[in-house]
Amino acid sequence: MNLKHLVSAADLSREQAVTLLDTTKELSGVSDREVKKLPTLRGKTVVNLFFEDSTRTRVSFEVAEKRLSADVINVSAKGSSVSKGESLKDTVQTLAAISADVIVMRHGSSGAAHTLANSNWFNGSVINAGDGTHEHPTQALLDSYTLRDRLFGSKAGAALDGVNVAIVGDIAHSRVARSNLILLKTLGAKVHLIAPATLLPKALANSAVSAHYSFDEAIDNLDLDAVMMLRVQSERMQASFFPTESEYSRTWGLNRERLLRMKKDVLVMHPGPMNRGLEIDSFCADSPNSTVLEQVKNGVSARMAVLYHLAGTERNI
Ligand code: CP
Repeated sequence: MNLKHLVSAADLSREQAVTLLDTTKELSGVSDREVKKLPTLRGKTVVNLFFEDSTRTRVSFEVAEKRLSADVINVSAKGSSVSKGESLKDTVQTLAAISADVIVMRHGSSGAAHTLANSNWFNGSVINAGDGTHEHPTQALLDSYTLRDRLFGSKAGAALDGVNVAIVGDIAHSRVARSNLILLKTLGAKVHLIAPATLLPKALANSAVSAHYSFDEAIDNLDLDAVMMLRVQSERMQASFFPTESEYSRTWGLNRERLLRMKKDVLVMHPGPMNRGLEIDSFCADSPNSTVLEQVKNGVSARMAVLYHLAGTERNI
């Protein structure tokens, strides 16, 4: 695959996205082996550079890198010279000086991964692990893989043509929503956005198949195959976007009553971390429809697939 960096879901053609889903499927078997290792990244150094908190993304990248035999270094803002005011440029040039081959970066500023990939500070590959409210492309890959796996058994070469997916909630602050909107469209899915008007930017609403300002009406009018609930990102809100949390949960939360009005096998997705009782209740989060933990599990294989195609040398799975 002719791809050096993965900064945006828009970096992927349909063919490349399907190839990544197929490779994810092949690599998923590695986690079930007694020796969970491939030599693909042997001799390569991967740095996980996290300026923002993370559980799922950081842990699954680290597991993916170790399963591919990379030398792994974890750097976080706390405990590094970033906390003394070191710039992104100086931090990255330090990592380049120790011959890092790949930087996986999470950063609070939208555009930080693009800046790094297009700088001359570092010659290796850059993988965006989430930048501000901009994008989170590996989350979109693992979400599309989870959808394909549940709906089509991850049939090699399959995309998501005609699949009806709703993205619901705090779209304005969500990098997960942006990357999913792009990748799901690339794969042929029909994406519907459902949110309060204050949390649904017009440009995104216009790029979806449909936009809805009532969750209940959308449930009644759309034949949804999957509903992707978004975390309410209070830490990114500079103002009040809805009256109260209980009002949000009553109007926009996925609860038992709403789930039971959707089709029986609708998939309930959430990228995590979840605010239980706010955007999703425990009945839905823990129901058989929920793919939340499958998404986490698939995140390891999806990230292995990205590393395999961007930086791998030994290509036998
Ligand atoms: N989904 C996601 O990015 O979770 P973390 O913030 O825990 O990595």
